Amino acid sequence: MKITFLGHAALSIDFNDTKLLIDPFISGNEMASGKIDIDTLDPDYILVTHAHQDHILDVEAIAKRTGATIVSNYEIATHYGNKGLKAHPMNHGGNWNFDFGRLKYTQAIHTSSFPDGSYGGQPGGFVLQADGKRLYIAGDTALTMDMKLIPAEGPLDMAILPIGDNFTMGIDDAVIAATFLECDQILGYHYDTFGYIEIDHQRATETFDKAGKKLHLLNIGASLSL
Ligand code: NI
Ligand code: MN
Repeated sequence: MKITFLGHAALSIDFNDTKLLIDPFISGNEMASGKIDIDTLDPDYILVTHAHQDHILDVEAIAKRTGATIVSNYEIATHYGNKGLKAHPMNHGGNWNFDFGRLKYTQAIHTSSFPDGSYGGQPGGFVLQADGKRLYIAGDTALTMDMKLIPAEGPLDMAILPIGDNFTMGIDDAVIAATFLECDQILGYHYDTFGYIEIDHQRATETFDKAGKKLHLLNIGASLSL
């Protein structure tokens, strides 16, 4: 399984013949310009954690071009379904066996309005079980006790956690989250894109090191293998 960081909270997760795209916010991300071309992305599925602009900006264009199925909460899936796009609705706590593996839509403490202010359901994250791996994609969220429930279903190979603070968990809470998740391999995301979420990379990696955990920070376009 290959995880590629596309900037901000956007990821591509590739395994076998499946490509998952997560929260594509690329064309509006100055840090990704010249590094990621959305027209080269060819996902089978687009996973959307919540309706904020910095997570959905490129969903429609990519789904229209590729025919990818959008997987999100009921309200977001319905929003895109009404536009004639393929969509699979989920809600918190629900699992579904897709052709590539299993997804669970998990709780997140955040908000989820669309850019025009319309209702985007409740925000979430995903647990992905595929290719013999188990991965938690937290979405935008505060540290929450509910994270303790996730490893109760089985150990995680990696947790992808927001670390930018202000709108989500910061570094210190993300270390506690990693403890709750019983996971030592963390990929940080949702940092540096805007002034509010700039982080000190050295302090971030050192804070995780001290807790006996590994924080991966990828350059935009870089990948890691699981
Ligand atoms: Ni958000
Ligand atoms: Mn966000």
